[in-house]
Amino acid sequence: MGFDIPEDLALLTGGGPETWAGISAAHLAAYERYAPIEPHHEVLEIGCGVGRDAIPLAELLRPPGRYTGVDVVRESIEWCRRHVTPRYPHATFGHLDVHSPMYNPDGRLTATEVTLPAADGSVDRALLQSVFTHMFPDAVAHYLRELRRVLRPDGLVFASMFVLSEPNRSLAQSTGAPLQFPVDHGGGCFFQDPQNPEGAVGYTPEAVERLCAAAELVLDQPVHEGSWTGRTGVPDGQDIVILRPGVRRTRRTRRTRRTRRLPGWRRTPGPG
Ligand SMILES: C[S@@+](CC[C@H](N)C(=O)[O-])C[C@H]1O[C@@H](n2cnc3c(N)ncnc32)[C@H](O)[C@@H]1O
Repeated sequence: MGFDIPEDLALLTGGGPETWAGISAAHLAAYERYAPIEPHHEVLEIGCGVGRDAIPLAELLRPPGRYTGVDVVRESIEWCRRHVTPRYPHATFGHLDVHSPMYNPDGRLTATEVTLPAADGSVDRALLQSVFTHMFPDAVAHYLRELRRVLRPDGLVFASMFVLSEPNRSLAQSTGAPLQFPVDHGGGCFFQDPQNPEGAVGYTPEAVERLCAAAELVLDQPVHEGSWTGRTGVPDGQDIVILRPGVRRTRRTRRTRRTRRLPGWRRTPGPG
């Protein structure tokens, strides 16, 4: 598309020039499969890097459709502002100065202080490609709450993750996959490398559901399993999780849920 992507910034997103176009095409195909994007949509991408998906999405979207990308790497955001927005004014970029040992060691905020740059109930598609795979539970919980806030009632979150189900774990073990997630962080969160904890972070399905439920988000589709375990015949590398807004829990629905969970429960007869 005629952009000269800086190699050092591309490398920060997990691949150089030789894989750039292939990964971008695979991402766009995955959106089409699981959470199709329409030209009029408002799209928010978290961890947009140096525009791998921003550029083709800006090409696809037509105002009033628009794209907003955020990332913690200031240089990548500045590059996108200088090169992408002038050509596609409906694509804008914001820097989140979040501390990340890997990506932004001098960052001044914690991830739990982030406010996503979108109005309540405005976003049709929120995209996170290989971002929750570098984040721990408090940060993921906060981002999910923010995503719930900005999502339209019929909006979807597309997030790639490492979902550590028992079948995924045993498959990864039997195929000798490079990622086994041996280190237990607690709360259903595991990571790969004690020297670089944020390098690869995974979650059990129960942890994914718990974090989503706390943010009033639910799985829209069964998890789409990726090939990181050595699984063959699947199109995605990481597992793909598609979320939609769940029902807001009022006092009444909370009471109803508790009653439903315990079918044998009977009110203890009171005095008189
Ligand atoms: C593996 S890269 C993927 C980049 C991009 N999604 C892609 O596929 O080309 C992970 C990205 O997430 C960004 N990131 C890490 N922690 C973040 C956070 N707390 N908030 C937003 N972005 C974050 C990194 O700076 C990096 O650009």
